[in-house]
Amino acid sequence: MSDASDQRAPSGEPVLSLKGISKHFGAVSALTDINLDVHAGEVVALVGDNGAGKSTLVKVLAGVHQPSSGTITFRGKQVTLSDPSTALDLGIATVFQDLALCENLDVVANIFLGREMSPMKLDETAMEVRAWTLLNELAARIPSVRIPIASLSGGQRQTVAIARSLLLEPKLIMLDEPTAALGVAQTAEVLNLIERVRDKGLGVIMISHNMEDVRAVADRIVVLRLGRNNGIFYPDTSNQELVSAITGATENAVSRRAGRRQAQQEQREGGQP
Ligand SMILES: Nc1ncnc2c1ncn2[C@@H]1O[C@H](COP(=O)(O)OP(=O)(O)OP(=O)(O)O)[C@@H](O)[C@H]1O
Ligand SMILES: [Mg+2]
Repeated sequence: MSDASDQRAPSGEPVLSLKGISKHFGAVSALTDINLDVHAGEVVALVGDNGAGKSTLVKVLAGVHQPSSGTITFRGKQVTLSDPSTALDLGIATVFQDLALCENLDVVANIFLGREMSPMKLDETAMEVRAWTLLNELAARIPSVRIPIASLSGGQRQTVAIARSLLLEPKLIMLDEPTAALGVAQTAEVLNLIERVRDKGLGVIMISHNMEDVRAVADRIVVLRLGRNNGIFYPDTSNQELVSAITGATENAVSRRAGRRQAQQEQREGGQP
């Protein structure tokens, strides 16, 4: 795992580098001594079981939580992300799992939500043009930017949330479970979208419980377990190896089940003339 990963790790300065990040909530250690690098034009999947610390890590990077210790280096400079607007202004955008869109407002209003009152306030036409441009860059399939979010599908909503996160031209975007609530076709759309964001040269951190999605789009897979780093893997890693790193057991319910099915399959195939 480590030797192979070192050889395949992308070269060059990472856009984001975490060293020894820990986060305690009272007596609970949500994160312990986390190291993580993300490069420009790279999708890093962050995987781990429930409670592994994924969302906590995203919130530390989004400026929602302050780390108890450790350093964050962004674009070559050590930074303190004291609140969400600091993270955003530096170029770290987050699409939280709940998306935080306003159902009754249209696509344009949602993309500019909270930004309308800026000193460089845009007029409605300019905002509409900018919204279309963002969505076109993502080759997004949205029927109209003047329809309310309530009438969009799950995948289209995810698209609007991603477009909104790109408004301030970030260098890093974090997506918490972007495909969790989506069907097959919509998942494929969102994965394409993530590739387009990567191809624009952004660093991407994607949290997912779906190993198929992770394998389809990630350049590297970073496993957290009980708040600690538990290995860096590549999309060709076997399911069993990934599950082992995630659960911390070489023998576990998932791998036993997979093994049983494999044996049954072989038996069936062996039984055929
Ligand atoms: N605000 C908080 N106060 C106290 N404990 C917290 C807080 N946020 C998270 N934790 C704890 O930190 C640990 C990591 O939680 P976190 O939400 O980061 O996990 P996760 O990997 O995102 O899990 P899931 O896959 O279920 O979303 C858990 O034990 C959780 O109870
Ligand atoms: Mg979470």
